[in-house]
Amino acid sequence: MENLRSHVDSAFSYAPGKAILVGEHAVVYGARAIAMPLLNGVRVAVSKLPSDQKSVGPLIRGMGLFLGDISLNSSSAPPNFLLALEYLVKTFGARTNELFVLVDGSLPPGRGLGSSAALSVALLRGISQYFGEPLSHEMLWEHASALETIFHGRPSGIDHSVVIHGSVIGFQRRDNELKLWPIKVKHPLTFVVGIASPHAGTKNAVARLNDRRMRHERMYARLFDGLDELAGLMEEALTLGRLSQIGELMNMAQGYLNALSVSTAELERLCELARKNGALGAKLTGAGGGGAVIALTENDGHDLANTFRTLGFQSFVTNVSGTAVKNLGESHAY
Ligand code: MEV
Repeated sequence: MENLRSHVDSAFSYAPGKAILVGEHAVVYGARAIAMPLLNGVRVAVSKLPSDQKSVGPLIRGMGLFLGDISLNSSSAPPNFLLALEYLVKTFGARTNELFVLVDGSLPPGRGLGSSAALSVALLRGISQYFGEPLSHEMLWEHASALETIFHGRPSGIDHSVVIHGSVIGFQRRDNELKLWPIKVKHPLTFVVGIASPHAGTKNAVARLNDRRMRHERMYARLFDGLDELAGLMEEALTLGRLSQIGELMNMAQGYLNALSVSTAELERLCELARKNGALGAKLTGAGGGGAVIALTENDGHDLANTFRTLGFQSFVTNVSGTAVKNLGESHAY
């Protein structure tokens, strides 16, 4: 019998952005980290390329915050996007060359908010659904990992893991073993995201941190140990619903990130502004060197978001629900 699912006209998919509550960078060196999905994310619509559209390979049309038209012959496309397109064609076969993919979203790119992981996961979900061959959880993770490697060099995997799972997770990658576990947050949490200048890329930030680490190996090992311990305390505070403790731990994590030299004057200013305006805690999120801060608030967050905007910084509010969405099991080896 004919496979009806392979005849869908279009497929739609979505993937959320992410923020790291504690453990960015340290996670690359085996420390535990905690990440949460954002309400803002990336939407993708996949259909067949109209006959009047000329394109070599699939045509990706970025709308809103994303890039313009990208296909395999676009001269203006960043090289890693072209490699990502080639990877998609290799994965889904020659039929992928006839696809028209609209990308839209509310996630500013290059700000440590997981835009590349969200784009990768949304594309993989959308294209596989269009062909009527949805990917298993494991295959989605593998392909997202390959795309993130194209975008970021050697990622720990925390970004696409939280984007795929869509709930708060603990994450640790050590000695080739990857552990990923759900964290049940006792009370709903509200965070204000303040957007600073773009960072110079995760790959670059991770490589430069490694250069510094080589010069100060023992001190960096201690900082990573401290961040690992903070992640343990943060998990406890989240599960017990200790709001002010979560905020204090975020402030401590920011201190560590400053010691690792991934903060900037602008990020420090945004954190300070958030704390002065009643936030329980604030820290940069993601690779640093620019990007964004997250601030935990006790209220709906709109006043702080407006304060950021008044001072010229884009801002949005995001919530984390009080219940874990999925049971991920104890440990996965990928
Ligand atoms: C980027 O969101 C998080 C980093 O720790 C890099 C990684 O884990 O791949 C900076």
